[in-house]
Amino acid sequence: MSLVSAKEMLNKARDGKYAVGQFNINNLEWTKAILLTAQENNSPVILGVSEGAGKYMGGYKTVVGMVNGLLEDLKITVPVALHLDHGSYEGAYKAMEAGFSSIMFDGSHYAIDENIAKTTELVKVTSEKGLSLEAEVGSIGGEEDGVVGAGEIADPNECKQISDLGVTMLAAGIGNIHGKYPANWKGLAFDALSQINDVTGDVPLVLHGGTGIPAEMIKKAISLGVAKINVNTECQLSFAEATRKYIESGKDLQGKGFDPRKLLGPGFEAIKATVKEKMELFGSVNQA
Ligand code: 13P
Repeated sequence: MSLVSAKEMLNKARDGKYAVGQFNINNLEWTKAILLTAQENNSPVILGVSEGAGKYMGGYKTVVGMVNGLLEDLKITVPVALHLDHGSYEGAYKAMEAGFSSIMFDGSHYAIDENIAKTTELVKVTSEKGLSLEAEVGSIGGEEDGVVGAGEIADPNECKQISDLGVTMLAAGIGNIHGKYPANWKGLAFDALSQINDVTGDVPLVLHGGTGIPAEMIKKAISLGVAKINVNTECQLSFAEATRKYIESGKDLQGKGFDPRKLLGPGFEAIKATVKEKMELFGSVNQA
């Protein structure tokens, strides 16, 4: 199946009270592990690519070529969207041109008027091309260049203004942050989420910073309109842990244990296990 926009899978998820996972990719192993897990669990899936990861993999065209090739070679039949994560205005155009099927324009750091102006334009362009568009209000905290910011709480009125523009899905800051949550984290701001859900109608809401959010909070967030949950760090942690175990136990020094196909094997399986666990928690298994 070729890449699809995230619109249909997310509207279906919102109606069915489950969420589709966005799993960020970094390389071939990541992509293959996520696609195979989605297929094995008959789950729709969104592959997230940040601008940095896109650059790391060689550029957007390489990413699109790799993903399209894997969809065909691995005979993937579940719905898959290739989504630009936290895209800049310029990055959004580049990713569209390269063949991404879904775009996030993160205008949360602009003043609301500028966020509205740029999002309005991108709603028009993406809908003409049949692509999905995610917008953001209220920045999501986390570690950036060593500075850890607390998650902002989005203003429900601003959320309504942006969702009324016709975006496919809306990311709203509700105290969520990227990376690991600090020990003194206050948890998700459910009052804010509930208000945002009330004013944005049936627009699927997006929860960033999915790593480390307790299961009960995930379930409550889904009951309040969240239909897309982003996970990145958790796959990185499981990959690193499994790879470290392999090397620390000296397996790379035994026989041909240094072969990348062996060396990266445990990390690959660890990503698969993490993705499966999240798909089960989010309720997307058998929803393809
Ligand atoms: P985590 O790295 O905290 O899982 O967040 C992922 C994310 O929100 C990507 O946009």
